[in-house]
Amino acid sequence: MVVLPVREGRGGASIRAPEARLTEAEGLARAIRLEVVHSEIVRLRTASAGHLFGKGQIERLAAAVAAHEVELVVIDGVVSPIQQRNLEKGLGAKVIDRTGLILEIFGERASTREGTLQVELAHLQYQASRLVRSWTHLERQRGGFGFMGGPGESQIETDRRLIRDRIVRLKNELEDVLRTRALHRRQRQKAPWPVVALVGYTNAGKSTLFNRLTGAEVRAEDLLFATLDPTMRAISLPGHDKVVLSDTVGFVSDLPTQLVAAFRATLEEVTEADLIVHVRDISHPDTEAQAADVAKVLTDLGLVDDENRVQILTVFNKIDALDADAREAVTARAGHDAVAVSALTGDGIEALCEQMAVLLRAGSRVHDIHLTHGDGRKLAWLHQHGEVVARADESEGLALKVRLSDVDHARFVAL
Ligand code: GTP
Repeated sequence: MVVLPVREGRGGASIRAPEARLTEAEGLARAIRLEVVHSEIVRLRTASAGHLFGKGQIERLAAAVAAHEVELVVIDGVVSPIQQRNLEKGLGAKVIDRTGLILEIFGERASTREGTLQVELAHLQYQASRLVRSWTHLERQRGGFGFMGGPGESQIETDRRLIRDRIVRLKNELEDVLRTRALHRRQRQKAPWPVVALVGYTNAGKSTLFNRLTGAEVRAEDLLFATLDPTMRAISLPGHDKVVLSDTVGFVSDLPTQLVAAFRATLEEVTEADLIVHVRDISHPDTEAQAADVAKVLTDLGLVDDENRVQILTVFNKIDALDADAREAVTARAGHDAVAVSALTGDGIEALCEQMAVLLRAGSRVHDIHLTHGDGRKLAWLHQHGEVVARADESEGLALKVRLSDVDHARFVAL
């Protein structure tokens, strides 16, 4: 069961449409294979510190829980540990809030070792603040549902001290992983093809676009890329034989702070990309707020600053869902860094491919680089990451012309 609490009389608490938020929350719940049997918006005049909802509201919700035999109530908002405990008692079902739900989703999606550790760490930190005995009941009944996705199956039954110990151990393990990460990254960067990462708010249509762009090639390239992450595929673009396209986990609003580090790990491909394609559902009532959320995450990931900037191409997706006027307005907004498409019908896809190709070419330029004689490490780095197109000996060292992406050039400067 999904419940969206909406505060009333608090003008501007949220600029998002409640119905759209509820639909999104249902979608998030389904993302971890929960069957949503009931969902509703509950309007609050003031939030009760102890119970979140009013007495009458809780009774009504409890009746719905009983009627639908609900096991889990997802509250799409912030629920304090005390409210959670009281609600579980009052409703007769396990309760998780938005952070808990998002942690679950990340637990399932994290694929790298670092990502898995980060998510587990975030889980534990979240739990440590709200370790309540009432949780254990349904956890056990469901045979490990909830916060159990990954490792650490028995943490719910442990006490705070054990959780703290585990947090310390995880942090140590993470440090180890981080130490070897630079090495992995170097190995991955040996791939001589540019990387394009699709990002976007959840449900924007990334996967549909990914399939549309890769559809013809998936089968042919499957073997070649068998070692790559399954969400990475090679495509060809005008003037580029091979470009690696990478689909990423969808972004959501109110990303829990504990998860920003985990998100960073899950989105590692994005930070390595030569081009980011930001897919937007331009037909969604909250499309601007969603775009702002995505932009904020990209900024938090350090991608949108002047130094280490990755080029971003915006895709206005789902133009088929717009009426003629709106569609015309959106198409008029398209240009050098934005393209209007329908991933569903294929409309605009060719223009998108062309624009990706143009930006990828623009992102790779020949730089003049001077090295002193002792700079063997830097020279090796340049050979590894770029194409050395000219080399001349100078009295103090070497004068090179090296083709490098903007991203790699920024990395080189920071070496
Ligand atoms: P997450 O996995 O949650 O991040 O979603 P996503 O961004 O990968 O979105 P996905 O491709 O799964 O599409 C979400 C929904 O939007 C699906 O029901 C798609 O069929 C629909 N959709 C995608 N592209 C279009 C489009 O161009 N037009 C219309 N009308 N619907 C689309």
